[in-house]
Amino acid sequence: MPYALYKGDKNMKITCGTDIIEVERIKKAIEKNKEKFLNEIYTKKEIQYCEAKKVKKYEHYAARFAAKEAIFKAISNTLKNKYDLTWKDAEILNNEEGRPYVILNKEKIKKDIQIEISLSHIKEYAIANSIAKWEN
Ligand SMILES: CC(C)(COP(=O)(O)OP(=O)(O)OC[C@H]1O[C@@H](n2cnc3c(N)ncnc32)[C@H](O)[C@@H]1OP(=O)(O)O)[C@@H](O)C(=O)NCCC(=O)NCCS
Repeated sequence: MPYALYKGDKNMKITCGTDIIEVERIKKAIEKNKEKFLNEIYTKKEIQYCEAKKVKKYEHYAARFAAKEAIFKAISNTLKNKYDLTWKDAEILNNEEGRPYVILNKEKIKKDIQIEISLSHIKEYAIANSIAKWEN
C-alpha cells in the first residue's frame, strides 16, 4: 500500500546521479601523465582491476571516473563543502560476479549512506548511474 510505504520511509532520503565520459579523454589524460593522474583519481585496487583488462583498460578507467562523478552528484547535498571530497573517497570494486559496488570513505562522509551503481562502456563512451540512500 503506497501510504504504508511512505509512512515507513518518511525519514529516508534517496537521490540519484549520472555521468557520461569519452573514453578517449581518459586515455589521453593517462598517457600524458600516467602516475600522477592514476594516483590522484584511482585507488590501488581500481588500478589493479583496470590494468588486468589490458586492451580495454581505458574503458574501465573511464567507467570508474564516470562512477565517481555520478556518486558525487548523488551525495553532494549531504556535504558541507564539496571540495572536502577527493576522487579516492569513493572506491569502485567488483564482486565475484562482476557486479560493481562502492566503498565510501567513512571518515569524510559521516552519514550512513548506501550507494548502488551501474556501469556500462563501449569503445567511445563510458556511463555510470548511482543511487544513494540514507536516513535523514
Ligand atoms: C554483465 C553483462 C550484463 C555486462 O554487459 P555488457 O554489455 O557486456 O557490458 P557493459 O559495458 O554494458 O557493462 C560492463 C559493466 O557491467 C557491470 N557488471 C558486470 N557484471 C555484472 C553483474 N553481474 N551485475 C551487475 N553489473 C555487472 C560491470 O560494472 C562492468 O564494467 P566493469 O567491469 O568496468 O566494472 C553481460 O556481460 C552479461 O553477463 N550478460 C548476460 C546476461 C544478460 O544480458 N541477459 C539478458 C536477459 S536478462
